Amino acid sequence: MEEGHPAPSPDLSPEEIWQGLKSRFWKEIICYKSVGSTNTAGLALPLADDEEESGRVIAADSQEKGRGRFDRRWISPPGVNIHLSIVLRPEIPPGNAPLLTMLGALASAAAIKKETGIAVSVKWPNDLVVSGKKLGGILAEARTVNGLISRAVIGIGINLNARFEDFPPEISEKATSALILTGSTFSRSAVIASIMNEFETRYKKLKYIGGFPLVREMRPLLSSLGREVVISDGGPEISGFVEDITDDGRLIICLPSGARKKIGSGEIIGPDDV
Ligand code: BTN
Repeated sequence: MEEGHPAPSPDLSPEEIWQGLKSRFWKEIICYKSVGSTNTAGLALPLADDEEESGRVIAADSQEKGRGRFDRRWISPPGVNIHLSIVLRPEIPPGNAPLLTMLGALASAAAIKKETGIAVSVKWPNDLVVSGKKLGGILAEARTVNGLISRAVIGIGINLNARFEDFPPEISEKATSALILTGSTFSRSAVIASIMNEFETRYKKLKYIGGFPLVREMRPLLSSLGREVVISDGGPEISGFVEDITDDGRLIICLPSGARKKIGSGEIIGPDDV
């Protein structure tokens, strides 16, 4: 476990988060004043082998080494934004790992809409976007034991109350926040509780029904659906038309040759508005 201290600011406290929860699904909420990364802390959290199915949450006022996808830095200044990791033992096949990112994105999008009125779209697979600018992102990490995901850490970063000047110059043109979009500030604890409530209902669907309810909810939010895109997945860039998304969260791309390719991880690198 990383070094940390109890909750720092009045709007980020386990008590307030507990008060906003709708059920007893959640087992533990840890709030740090400062931590390296809530995801790293979540990966290190001791979980008993026979731990019953329930969720734990780690939140932090700020992160010193906040991580984005592809080892990018996630700017996490104190006092303003949401830095949150949900730790679970989902026991689902590793092939369903893309659904964990989708779960985080859908729960965040629903909570943001409810709490702030902002409608976000999702730039596959993990960016929460408003008018082409990034409001948040999801970093899902998993450990597999005996062919099942024994630990999932779903990291959620949301720019909630950041002002333009809180972002470093290299990202201030590409990022936005709920404050910038609405002119209002929001309680981080209330938004976190809302994310947890939204997460819980979708997580239960994923576990007991499967991926298709999530995929159905995702389709209208997906900015790339029905668009020509360029995707980087570690190999040569892939250009094609985004036809659909599979029940396990992979994009179905129609290539110029007419062949179809399913892509489970990667990044859409063009065009700019997708
Ligand atoms: C991305 O868009 O690349 C993903 C960003 C994920 C950031 C969150 S903040 C809470 C959690 N802890 C981390 O270090 N990263 C995730």
